[in-house]
Amino acid sequence: MILSTATLLGPLSLLASTASAGPLTSPKRGLIFIPDARFPQDRDAHIWKQNPSPLTWYYNYQAEPSPAFGDLPQSEFEFVPMLWGKPDDKDDTSFLKTVERLVDTRKINITHVLGFNEPDGPRKWGGSDIDPDTAAHVWLKNIAPLRERGIQVGLPACTGSPDGTKWLDTFLKSCSKQLSGKGPTKNCTYDFVNLHWYGSFEGLASHIGSYSATFPDMPLWITEYNLNHQDLPATQSFYNMSSEYFDRLDYVERYSIFGAFRSDVSNVGPNAAMLDPDGQLTDIGAWYLGRPATGVTPSAGLRGVDPRRAVSLFGAAVAGFALLYV
Ligand SMILES: *[C@@H]1O[C@H](CO)[C@@H](O)[C@H](O)[C@H]1NC(C)=O
Ligand SMILES: *[C@@H]1O[C@H](CO)[C@@H](O)[C@H](O)[C@H]1NC(C)=O
Ligand SMILES: *[C@@H]1O[C@H](CO)[C@@H](O)[C@H](O)[C@H]1NC(C)=O
Repeated sequence: MILSTATLLGPLSLLASTASAGPLTSPKRGLIFIPDARFPQDRDAHIWKQNPSPLTWYYNYQAEPSPAFGDLPQSEFEFVPMLWGKPDDKDDTSFLKTVERLVDTRKINITHVLGFNEPDGPRKWGGSDIDPDTAAHVWLKNIAPLRERGIQVGLPACTGSPDGTKWLDTFLKSCSKQLSGKGPTKNCTYDFVNLHWYGSFEGLASHIGSYSATFPDMPLWITEYNLNHQDLPATQSFYNMSSEYFDRLDYVERYSIFGAFRSDVSNVGPNAAMLDPDGQLTDIGAWYLGRPATGVTPSAGLRGVDPRRAVSLFGAAVAGFALLYV
């Protein structure tokens, strides 16, 4: 089912004005926690769970929870481990062991885990660049055993490319083949499907439509999204429409905007960031936390920072991060 733009825009523009403040707590709305490499003490982390905050879950592209949220029980702020990429040795089971240790030794009630981050994308854009056969092998070693013990598992989160569902199809076929061996056909199983999107609202709606057609009856998690590199009115309008849309669709089980960082290090354009260069919430940041607009413009504090330098700073942070946690 591809949603048509024409039928979506009518009702949504009427609803946009009620989308603003959002719910007091939301089982759907979560945080992508991205530490700022410039502030090793996680200076901005407290903002996201300052009361009242509707955010109920987070991920950080890693297997281990972030120390900044270490005091919060899962019932208050659910940490969702992610297997970001493939290990150097494809038989490595570090991810599995780490999650088992969280559950069995540290008694952290892990209930969901995320598959690979953008396996269909190149490293230079933040993708984990894994061929579907290897990904399936690593999945069977690390993710499948977690599902056997009752943890819900999410399919790998492909880029917003229309070919993402093809990567997933090849992955699932390979996974089934490796699992079945010479015996009767068995399929790899999962509980929800992840997707990413950068671009217009119409594109987002159509992308979600194609995923829900490919994976009917599966809950969707939109684990990265935004309108990148656009002016502020367009970005805010995208924010209003997308949050209203996600809150309304039953099969959208969770979502997390890519924007919990300062605008001067944003690689998706300053207007998509939830913090200004001084760490104050922008309007979008405040709305995401269910609060009224702050009137803080994302670029207000840019004060002569060369945007190209800003992007490379962020790139370096992401690259460093990726290297650490592959
Ligand atoms: C977005 O929603 C807020 C809060 O309701 C509203 O003040 C703002 O005008 C909206 N912006 C756009 C561009 O729709
Ligand atoms: C873990 O969390 C789930 C979901 O909130 C809950 O149903 C389950 O009872 C919890 N398990 C333990 C051991 O606390
Ligand atoms: C495995 O998945 C394929 C493709 O979705 C389906 O056609 C087939 O019936 C499934 N087989 C089993 C044993 O579940």
